[in-house]
Amino acid sequence: MTKIELTNGVYWVGVVDWNLRDFHGYTTPRGGTYNAYLIVDDKIALVDTVKHGFAGEMIERIKEIIDPSKIDYIVSNHVEMDHSGSLPEIMKIATNAQVIATEKGKEGLLRHYRTNWNFRTVKTGDELTLGKKTLFFITAPMLHWPDSMFTYLKEDKILLSNDGFGQHLASSFRFDEDLCSLLGYECDTVMDEAAKYYANILMPFAGIILKKIEELQKLGIEIKMVAPSHGMIWTNPGKIIDAYLKWAQGISKQKVLVIYDTMWNSTETMANEILRGVADSGVEAALFHLRKNEWSEIVKEVLEAKAVIIGSPTLNNGMFPTVGGFLTYLMGLRPKNKLWATFGSYGWAGGAVKAVNEKLKSAGFEPVESLEVNFRPDEQDLAKCYALGQKIASMVKANETV
Ligand code: FEO
Repeated sequence: MTKIELTNGVYWVGVVDWNLRDFHGYTTPRGGTYNAYLIVDDKIALVDTVKHGFAGEMIERIKEIIDPSKIDYIVSNHVEMDHSGSLPEIMKIATNAQVIATEKGKEGLLRHYRTNWNFRTVKTGDELTLGKKTLFFITAPMLHWPDSMFTYLKEDKILLSNDGFGQHLASSFRFDEDLCSLLGYECDTVMDEAAKYYANILMPFAGIILKKIEELQKLGIEIKMVAPSHGMIWTNPGKIIDAYLKWAQGISKQKVLVIYDTMWNSTETMANEILRGVADSGVEAALFHLRKNEWSEIVKEVLEAKAVIIGSPTLNNGMFPTVGGFLTYLMGLRPKNKLWATFGSYGWAGGAVKAVNEKLKSAGFEPVESLEVNFRPDEQDLAKCYALGQKIASMVKANETV
């Protein structure tokens, strides 16, 4: 195995999961990685481990560099099992290692592994000297669990950010610049996956992210490299930090999404006409059928769109189950600064649009427009759909928010 060094004495010892296609419900068509980092100084520290089942590969990588039994510290930045899953196996080898975690991290590790490891708990500002290198800890609750923290390598100016700034992307390269310098379009792939990761994992914590970036600035932390625990290592950290600031502030594009399901094509006919109204107004529009698109992909689109128009046929006096499921997922992610509108069709009794509106309102979102059609839309109904699209487009152009 080739040693992969971020800088002198700092190594990537993670694994690439080429076959990962689903990450607790989030689709990962490009696979993923679990990044662990080994810091070799007078003392040796391993920061994070890898998902259960990949421990052998991680240990082989460590053996290329040092004897794993000599590890002095294992820093657990985050309890979730994609990062802690191989802790039990490495602890069987590094029997004298101390496990460093936040107080919540220690609690979580004990609940998961029920062991008597030698723990040391840390909080923001605490340091651990390895020799010439110093680990500086920054708690990062809810990025992505209450236990999470970042580990900053003070002298090397590398932020080991765990889930923060990650992407699910398998590659034989470890650094974003390697992909970017080879093939220009791969830069877009990394950022596209970073956006998808942010949207599906971190979007609910936008306020916390803004405060955390501000805190890093106040701490005077200079960052030369961001090394997350998923995907590419950012050698140009400004790029991903700026993107996080934009996403967390809810800054969006002039783009409208029409997201729907349909039973006998009435709601789909309405969706297409609404889309036409948006597009004819000169605003970018995109259409997503909920049974023909991956929801985690749609959520990534929601992140950067200014307006979302949701359509549902009526089933049993309520919304269609896929629409209900998608809205439950989306509302949990708490997208910010969107315009919302709703539409749908019904046969003998309505209910879908009312149910969608109630779901949006329960999450604090007020639809600016709603439209419901009986059975099949006629010419007048289609004109109303077109007008709805035009109205939303004009509001998007005016950058209105609700
Ligand atoms: Fe990559 Fe929250 O685990």
